[in-house]
Amino acid sequence: MTITSPAEADALIVELVATPEGRADPYSRYAALREHVPVHRSGIGFWVLTRYDDCQRILRDPRMGKDFSGAALALGLSEEQQAEQAAFRDDHSNMLFADPPDHTRLRSLATRAFTPRTIEGLRGSVVSLVDELIDGLADGEVDVMDALAFRLPVTVIGEMLGVPAEDRPQFRPLVRASTAVLELAVTPEALAAATAARATMEEYFAGLVAERRARPADDLLTQLIAVEDGGDQLSERELISTAILLFAAGFETTTHLIGNGLRALLSHPDQLARLRADRSLVRPAVEELLRYDSPVQLAARTAYEDLTIGGHHIPSGSIVLALLGAANRDPGRFTDPDRLDVGRAEGAPISFGGGIHFCLGAALARMEGQIVFDRLIDRFATIELVDDQPTHRDSLTLRGLVDLRVRFAA
Ligand code: HEM
Repeated sequence: MTITSPAEADALIVELVATPEGRADPYSRYAALREHVPVHRSGIGFWVLTRYDDCQRILRDPRMGKDFSGAALALGLSEEQQAEQAAFRDDHSNMLFADPPDHTRLRSLATRAFTPRTIEGLRGSVVSLVDELIDGLADGEVDVMDALAFRLPVTVIGEMLGVPAEDRPQFRPLVRASTAVLELAVTPEALAAATAARATMEEYFAGLVAERRARPADDLLTQLIAVEDGGDQLSERELISTAILLFAAGFETTTHLIGNGLRALLSHPDQLARLRADRSLVRPAVEELLRYDSPVQLAARTAYEDLTIGGHHIPSGSIVLALLGAANRDPGRFTDPDRLDVGRAEGAPISFGGGIHFCLGAALARMEGQIVFDRLIDRFATIELVDDQPTHRDSLTLRGLVDLRVRFAA
């Protein structure tokens, strides 16, 4: 694909944001943008970055923040609907949408539960859980998204946080509905569903917090409540919002690491065979799967001061989109970037973001991914895609599959 005018670049961006073609193949569109207009001011008002170094820079720049108030972040919504979407992002009661000093305070409360050391301590129980789920796959044809990709991470984060097992399945549609607000194209119906889903989750977690107050347990929610009750560091609203963020972020993205990752491996039998033959490659393989088809494709920031990127003047107040999925395929950063190479040793991809908002759950997600791929290969001599063109979810920011039918044989 070539781009000869800003209008052509904009047309590609609209395809990425809102069309089935863009979902099926974002990477050739990213490549065209990166090659021809790596720092592009789109007609819809955002600046779009596709080079690895530029994306890293804005994520680490303290002059960039998360205050999107007043900004139209989606295509095709009325003013009233824009305001409804903005209400999600303008709720600064959890770390994802907060700037320092609130961000520092909100994040530090949860940090201890997610250090690589604490997470490593969970390895044994995650291995048992994966084995249990794999037992349920048996020989034959299975939708992996449901049977494994969702169930594993929702169980792990549910156990950590203290969300009872019987309550977890209802969150799959609720979280999916609520993430519509992270998208650049959202229909009025999807927006209404997101608002309703958020209200349901807030009500649920308010109830769970009340229950833990009455009967403390050995879980992260009880620890967060203890922090709140110990002083004024965390308001009730912040507590509920943080619990929802940890729970939702804990499974929604990891589900798609497993789904996108398995699909990529099964579409490259030579790489699967390589991993099967040398299991010490499982760590670099997970990094490579994260790079190759990341569950999170973009991160947005607002410029709080004028700045220059790639020779372009970006005025204060501009919204800047870092296309992480494009940065991960930047030939300036990764050799032969469109090739899947489970032994690649070129450093981490940008899939977990960067700077102060760097993913809190990165160590957990990596560990879950490593265990899943390792144990699946152990258990099954043959693993094959039933459908090699599975359907993608209708979203750009969060990239994942609706279902993934796979045939297993021991
Ligand atoms: C493969 C799986 C995952 C991917 C690709 C991923 C990706 C990301 C990215 C890109 C960000 C930064 C967003 C931004 O800069 O605007 C982020 C933030 C975050 N992630 Fe993850 N994530 C994953 C798994 C998890 C897990 C398992 C948890 C567990 C609770 C988690 C919790 C969070 C939290 C709390 C933040 C906000 C951090 C902050 O704002 O300081 N994530 N994640």
